[in-house]
This record gives sequence, structure tokens and C-alpha cells, in this order.
Amino acid sequence: MASLETLEAHYSAQINAASDEASLEAIRLASMGKKGEISLMMRELGKMSPDDRQVMGPALNGLKTRITDALAARKNLLEDEALNARLVSERVDVTLPVAREPQGSLHPVNQVMEELAVIFADMGFAVAEGPDVEDDFHNFTALNFPEGHPARDTHDTFFMEAKDGETPKVLRTHTSPVQIRTMMQGKAPIRIIAPGRVYRCDWDQTHTPMFHQVEGLVIDKETHMGHLKGCLIDFIAAFFETDEVEARFRPHHFPFTEPSAEMDVRYERVGDAVKVGSGDKWMEILGCGMVHPNVIRNCGFDPEVYQGFAFGMGVDRLAMLKYGMPDLRPFFEPDQRWLAHYGFSPLLQASLASGLS
Ligand code: DAH
Repeated sequence: MASLETLEAHYSAQINAASDEASLEAIRLASMGKKGEISLMMRELGKMSPDDRQVMGPALNGLKTRITDALAARKNLLEDEALNARLVSERVDVTLPVAREPQGSLHPVNQVMEELAVIFADMGFAVAEGPDVEDDFHNFTALNFPEGHPARDTHDTFFMEAKDGETPKVLRTHTSPVQIRTMMQGKAPIRIIAPGRVYRCDWDQTHTPMFHQVEGLVIDKETHMGHLKGCLIDFIAAFFETDEVEARFRPHHFPFTEPSAEMDVRYERVGDAVKVGSGDKWMEILGCGMVHPNVIRNCGFDPEVYQGFAFGMGVDRLAMLKYGMPDLRPFFEPDQRWLAHYGFSPLLQASLASGLS
């Protein structure tokens, strides 16, 4: 039989070399399990002479206690080591800047609408809304489109199915009906912009059946073309982030304004984007005019007392020009790659102070 010292040295060495809980358990079984070496020796005690037993009994018990303690100590040590290794590998440096995983982006149309709201809010305009499904009265009649007038046809209108005996509703062909809805609330002065979706039956590189416009309306007691020009030139300067806007107002015709004009700005191309203020080309950017007296009257105001101006423009087109997008169609195809390229951070708010884009 191995001497107790040899046995203790043997197990101590094994315990110190054990690298996981399973090996520790194997050592425990081999030494103190039912058929373990020490357990078998304990069983021999009964056969010993009382003198031998008195020596061997406490010696074996002591050995058992020391091996039990050594196993427990080793187990604690292994657990501590495992925890430390995890703490090192999972350490977070809270002083590092947050790595923002871009999850989505603002569509250029939303971005431009926010920019428009910020610029016009600074000039005292509120944002107004109207329904996409409009009636003939708001979309045409109240805006001074005479019944059967060819101007109605130029809008390539989508008609809804008519209910019995009613004039069919339409998908609004422009945001101008919001002028009517706002004026008919009966309160003046008015300063609103109305951004939103509009619909026309058309489809090519620069036309889609749904697109976006923004309408502007000012109604007050002393409003004239000078106000209209100043307001729109300031808007173009803010939107294209330049001080050198050169504009010209070309006579035009819209049923709901008199006089009516189209506003052109001087520009040059820089890649797919435009630089406003320099170059030798002129680009039509919006339609505008003094609100027609008939429209003011249709909405319950006296045109002898109240005048105003209005303007309307394509939001998608503004986005294409400012951000250099050559084709309108991808605006309405949910293509992640296009959005990742042309989209805007939803965390950066457009503001006049910190920059629009
Ligand atoms: N509603 C016009 C269109 O869709 C745009 C427009 C032109 C709006 C002149 C206006 C305006 O308010 O004064 O073509």
C-alpha cells in the first residue's frame, strides 16, 4: 500500500494540474468515491489493531480533509480564472465614441420637405394639409377652372369611380386645392405652405404618376408682386444655400392667378446637380402669381379688401436639382442601395442655423 505521503503528493499534483471541473470530479471519485483509494483504506481500519487504528484513523481523516479542501480551492481558482477571462474579453470602453450602425435613412423627398418647412417657417408660414382624394370643386372649380375648360385636361387627371349621380372625385392633380380649403376656414391673414402628394397619369424619366408639390399662399390686405418676388428669391437663396440668386419672372397663365408667372433662375450644371446663381442657363423652377379675384371671392373674401399671392413647385424636382439625381423613377422604387446612397441621416435635423443638409 502506498504511503499516505506518496498518496497525498500524487493527488495534490493531479489537483494542481486539473484544468476543469470534470477532471476535479474524476480525482474526487478516484480518491474518495465509493471505490476510491482512500475510501478503501478507511475500510481497512476495522481490521487493524487498536494501536495502528489510532494512528491511521486521524491520519486518513486528515488526508481526506486536505484533499477535499484542495479540490474546493482548485475549483474556486478555476472559476475565478474563467470569470476574469470573460471580463477581459467582454470589456466595454465607455469612453469610445458610439459606433452608430446606420439602420435607415430619410428619403430625399422627406429631407427636402423638412428643408422647405424650416425655410418658410422662418418667414412666418405655417404648414397646411388637404386630402389626396379631392372633389372637383376644390381641385378645379373653386380655383377658377371653367367647366369643360381644356386646362382640366392638361392635368391628366385620375378620376375615382363616381357614386350615383355625383361628380366623380379625383386624385388631386396639384396642391392648389389646399389654398381653397385654407381660405374657406374664413380667417385672414393667411401664410401657409402645403407640401404633399399629387397624381397625374404620366410616366417617364422625369414624370411619375404620383409625385410631390409644395403650395404657398399668402392672403392679406396689402400684398403685391414685390412681396411675391422677395419671398421667392429669399426662398431660392436659402434652399440652394447661396447669396447670388438671379431670377426672372416670365408671364404665364394659370386659371387661379392673375397676373401669373413662371420663375426662372440662372444656373449651371455641376455633374448631375445644379449651381444656382452663376452660369448662362435659365431654369424654370416654379409657377406663381397674384391670387385671382374670382378665387378670393369663391372662398368668401372680398377681393377689394384682400389680395394675395400663391406659388407651386415640384418637390421631387427640387430634390433632383439640389442633390444631383438624374432619374425620378428610383424615388418610388424601394431600392435599399439607392436610399443608402441618396438618403439622409434621420438624426440630423435641417435647420437654418446649422445648415439645411
Ligand atoms: N398648381 C400648379 C400646377 O400644378 C402650380 C402652381 C402655379 C401653383 C402657380 C400656384 C401658382 O399656386 O400660383 O401646375
